[in-house]
Amino acid sequence: MTQIMGYIKSAALEDKGFVVLDSYAEEVDPKEWLDLEYVDWKSSGDTRFAPLASAFGDIECNGFWNHKPPRTDKDGVWIESQTKIAPTLTRRAQEPGANVGRCRVIELQPNTYGDCLYNLHQDDNNRLNPDGTGWVVRGFFNLTDDKDSYFVLRENRTDPSIEYRIALPAGAQLIVDTQRLWHAATHNGTEPRYCLITSWTSGPELDAYIEKYHGTQDVPNYEVSQDVLDAGYAEQARRDAARAAYYAAKGQQEKIAMSEA
Ligand SMILES: [Fe+2]
Repeated sequence: MTQIMGYIKSAALEDKGFVVLDSYAEEVDPKEWLDLEYVDWKSSGDTRFAPLASAFGDIECNGFWNHKPPRTDKDGVWIESQTKIAPTLTRRAQEPGANVGRCRVIELQPNTYGDCLYNLHQDDNNRLNPDGTGWVVRGFFNLTDDKDSYFVLRENRTDPSIEYRIALPAGAQLIVDTQRLWHAATHNGTEPRYCLITSWTSGPELDAYIEKYHGTQDVPNYEVSQDVLDAGYAEQARRDAARAAYYAAKGQQEKIAMSEA
């Protein structure tokens, strides 16, 4: 008889799938993200990534399961040439004491709410993750002061009835079960947005960290006018239909790819 053990998960994320932590209050020198080495890695829009930890300590962003031997997104190897440029970011990623898999800074070019809805995806965080061990979730630390931008989280990609919109000023910190929630960022602005993304293993260390920084799921939705919401819904539907038609014409099964980011 097989006993199903299930993964170790955070109770704080059980209801809505995310928590917002206290805002990070310290100034961080923008050199910590601007001077890093970036690689092109398309995910959820026009993006580049600067890894701080990767599968084997190389400057690349591939899922750990795409390496040999394949493994789950745990035990990332810190990249010294990057961590010495970003000591504060590295310290922040390590602060919970939870196991870190991938850790990287994302650079996202400005986009619209409609782009964001089209880009909504789930992450493949727990491939090859052994049953009975900690579920991998992701921390997002917004670095740039993107006062007009917000993270969008949905339980269902095309259903706006459950949509959480989290404001992204500098210092915003949230932890998201990104394998459960569809997610992407709306970045209104003229300059790129930078955000530190860390894969953490759930467990007592992460729970203590969430508690220490007063993690809560009860945050107001970033306010967006009904006009913008409606235009976004229409844009997502239009582009989804265009994508479906494209794959139909090629005689292929349409897939919404699970993203690495
Ligand atoms: Fe993602």
